[in-house]
Amino acid sequence: MNKLKLNLEYVYDYISEAEIFSFQEEINKHHKSLFEKTGKGNDYLGWLELASKIGINQINEIKEDAERIKSIAEVFVVIGIGGSYLGSRAIIEALKHQFSNFLEEREFPEILYAGQNISEDYLADLIDIFDKKEYAIAVISKSGTTTEPALAFRIIKDHLENKYGKDESRKRIIAITDKEKGALKKLADEEGYSTYIIPDDVGGRYSVLTPVGLLPLAVAGFNIEDLISGFKSAQQEFLSTSIISKNTAALYAAARNALYQKGKIIECMVSYQPNLFYLIEWWKQLFGESEGKENKGIFPAGMNFTTDLHSMGQYMQEGGRNLFETVISVENPRRKLFIPGDETNLDGLNYIANKRIQEVNKEAERGTIIAHKDGGVPVIKIILSEINEFNIGQLLYFFEISCALSGYILDVNPFDQPGVEQYKMNMFALLGKPGFEEETRAIRKRLGK
Ligand code: PA5
Repeated sequence: MNKLKLNLEYVYDYISEAEIFSFQEEINKHHKSLFEKTGKGNDYLGWLELASKIGINQINEIKEDAERIKSIAEVFVVIGIGGSYLGSRAIIEALKHQFSNFLEEREFPEILYAGQNISEDYLADLIDIFDKKEYAIAVISKSGTTTEPALAFRIIKDHLENKYGKDESRKRIIAITDKEKGALKKLADEEGYSTYIIPDDVGGRYSVLTPVGLLPLAVAGFNIEDLISGFKSAQQEFLSTSIISKNTAALYAAARNALYQKGKIIECMVSYQPNLFYLIEWWKQLFGESEGKENKGIFPAGMNFTTDLHSMGQYMQEGGRNLFETVISVENPRRKLFIPGDETNLDGLNYIANKRIQEVNKEAERGTIIAHKDGGVPVIKIILSEINEFNIGQLLYFFEISCALSGYILDVNPFDQPGVEQYKMNMFALLGKPGFEEETRAIRKRLGK
């Protein structure tokens, strides 16, 4: 089992090792407070030990449901937003065949997503697929009251009931929600949907190792035990010591805060593998929602190289110097592809004939890191041996624990998201939701209506 590695050699022109290690005392304190549950948001620390607590019964239940869904559905729709969908999407997109929808022989259902936007075109386009394909759904909401998934669920449930009838459609709906609160739980109980519970002490963006992430993954045909093992090995590694030199999650938290204190207020997470796009989206949510509060926090941005080197690459090289870059560097691709030789060599590429595409991609990565570092952008490298369930498990836990430590260094509560409420209140007021009469009057007045 390969451990994830961290390489900081490209930050030392900007911060010293001593500056990074000066966070040791603080990290000790915060690591301890995670353990002892004494820090901010301490009633949401259930994610810390999920991997060692998940029982065989739960794993079997998930696998049985996944088998059942596979036998009745060609498409499985995950309805959720934020932490209720990004974790499963991040892992599934990282592991799946990138053009699976064009493969004729598919063993597992294709996973589609809904409830992560309020786009009429998106939902209407999805319904075109539901008209043609056999499908089942998971509706996921911890609070059970989030508008986007509730709205998508209402539309899709209606389609499902028209297509299959009420009784059959009940067998095609799985609800994943809180044990007692929220409209979704009430609906699930009344309709008799198969239900999974999200533990009270696990917040949305830390919930990937609950049925929120595990059920869609199992339906998509991935090995959830390997993912859990990856989480478990990271849990053992990162909870066993707070010593920065022995704990790469603590090292990452310390390095990014040292950079932040030097005015590097934007972190660009970058990968040279397009199948990590949603993993970066998950990372953006984790860090953005956890740290961005009280007018503080590193702004998490995401890019895909080399694609974005032909758009944002210019800014990275020569734009404002208030950013740093973190590269998720993958050593070994799953597939092998060699560049053929060509007698005419009209494209001038014979100098790389017989090399693997990966060799070219790696040199692009190396060249870019050096260029950006020389241009004033410190670069952190996170190295994965390959993309598989175990390594992704390690990586996600690595980010979770470093995010918690980093949030505590910033002295914010990394487990709440009070700022998300403001847009909802305005939207409810504008839509005239009952209970928001005063806000409706106020916002209409502001808009001169
Ligand atoms: O991390 C979080 O808590 C949020 O991003 C939530 O996951 C998101 O808002 C969806 O909430 P819910 O699962 O309650 O519908």
